[in-house]
Amino acid sequence: MKSVGIGSFFLKKIVAMSSPGIINRLSSTGRHRNILTVYGCKLIHGEILSSNVQTRHFSDDVVYKPDLRRSTEFRERSTSVTSFYNQSAIDQYAKANSVRLTPTTLLYAGKIPDGSHLLRSAQYLHKELPVRIAHRIKGFRNLPFIVGCNPTILQVHEMYIRAFNILSRHPPVDDKASEEKFSETLRTLLDDHKDVVTLLAEGFSECRKHIEDEELIKQFLDRTLKSRLGIRLLCEHHLALHNEQPNHVGIIDVNFSPRKLIEQKAEFVRTICESKYGYAPNFRLNGHLHGRFPYIPPPLEYIVGEILKNAFRASVESNMDNLNNIPDVVVTIAVNDVDFVVRVSDRGGGIPHKIINKVWNYNFTTSGTSTDDRVNGGLYGFGLPGSRAYAEFLGGTLLLETMQGVGTDIYLRLCHIDSSREAFRI
Ligand SMILES: Nc1ncnc2c1ncn2[C@@H]1O[C@H](COP(=O)(O)OP(=O)(O)OP(=O)(O)O)[C@@H](O)[C@H]1O
Ligand SMILES: [Mg+2]
Repeated sequence: MKSVGIGSFFLKKIVAMSSPGIINRLSSTGRHRNILTVYGCKLIHGEILSSNVQTRHFSDDVVYKPDLRRSTEFRERSTSVTSFYNQSAIDQYAKANSVRLTPTTLLYAGKIPDGSHLLRSAQYLHKELPVRIAHRIKGFRNLPFIVGCNPTILQVHEMYIRAFNILSRHPPVDDKASEEKFSETLRTLLDDHKDVVTLLAEGFSECRKHIEDEELIKQFLDRTLKSRLGIRLLCEHHLALHNEQPNHVGIIDVNFSPRKLIEQKAEFVRTICESKYGYAPNFRLNGHLHGRFPYIPPPLEYIVGEILKNAFRASVESNMDNLNNIPDVVVTIAVNDVDFVVRVSDRGGGIPHKIINKVWNYNFTTSGTSTDDRVNGGLYGFGLPGSRAYAEFLGGTLLLETMQGVGTDIYLRLCHIDSSREAFRI
């Protein structure tokens, strides 16, 4: 049996084919023969484990040195795998309701002079995170069987189970030392899970042909992306509370400038665009450029980046015969008491009628899907649906108006986090 750490991207197919995760899950459904055929593996449950173990221990005439890192990984993996059987803890937590916080609560509970805010924030997360993760594990379990067995999706499912085990078994947080240990655990988990969206995009792209109910997958991905965003924002907020940064309370920038964020993102996208096509459109910004207000920048960075990527790409690709004269991408900002709006306008030819109904589907893309394309800038068809899920999570909307043959306008409308009406909960 190959023992490969969770998160090992390149070997995931081998792992999944031989992983106890698959084997246990299949045997528990009594359908292992069918599925082993799906993944091209001829062995039957039971034979895989015993035959490989014997080969490893008796044929290799080498000095066996225990590899501490690998044995820890194996233990963790085994623990997560046993959870396919032993799920009572997950079920228990999944019955509890999530307690979501308003951004205002985060803002005002963020700094208490005696330092107790850190402990309270950690205690909240210690209780809350296993509940949210358990809800998501239920989501993975409810996926259509063939989709849930996809190696990449199964890998993410196992990552969630592992995170659940780590967090639900974490000792209570009741003093500074235990808070620091808990924060270290959060830091590690955040890092372990950083590629989850890419893995999901890849996994769902791989099993596209098995998906019959698009709406079901859409619901699953919307919920998973929103839940993941909420979890990451809370964790990052908690970790950021340790550092005093000017104009910040945790991840909240109390003097946020949409202009600055958009300029930075546009510069970044322009660089990617130039390195891919050799050309990029100019970029113009107008409207309420001096607007400043408290906001949580990370999800906005993601959304603005995705919209700009689409606008830049369309502008270049629809002007291939006139690359020295690509029309500008224009961004307009409007800030008022109730909300703020970002409009991105391009003259990239618009979205043809025949695909307009599909562009909000996960995994729908008109881009090439070569590895090079993916490495350079995504291209899994997650940009629009993922951004809309994030905008909705933030209590806002993402709308698209396109003029076929001319260009596209995208409107991102988001509410302020400190307005008198409850904006949204994280
Ligand atoms: N501004 C635009 N102009 C023309 N077509 C667009 C525009 N924005 C999106 N589209 C079309 O909608 C499709 C889906 O967009 P989406 O951002 O979801 O995926 P993608 O850009 O193909 O891949 P990813 O965003 O994951 O890198 C695109 O492939 C493109 O055909
Ligand atoms: Mg895109």
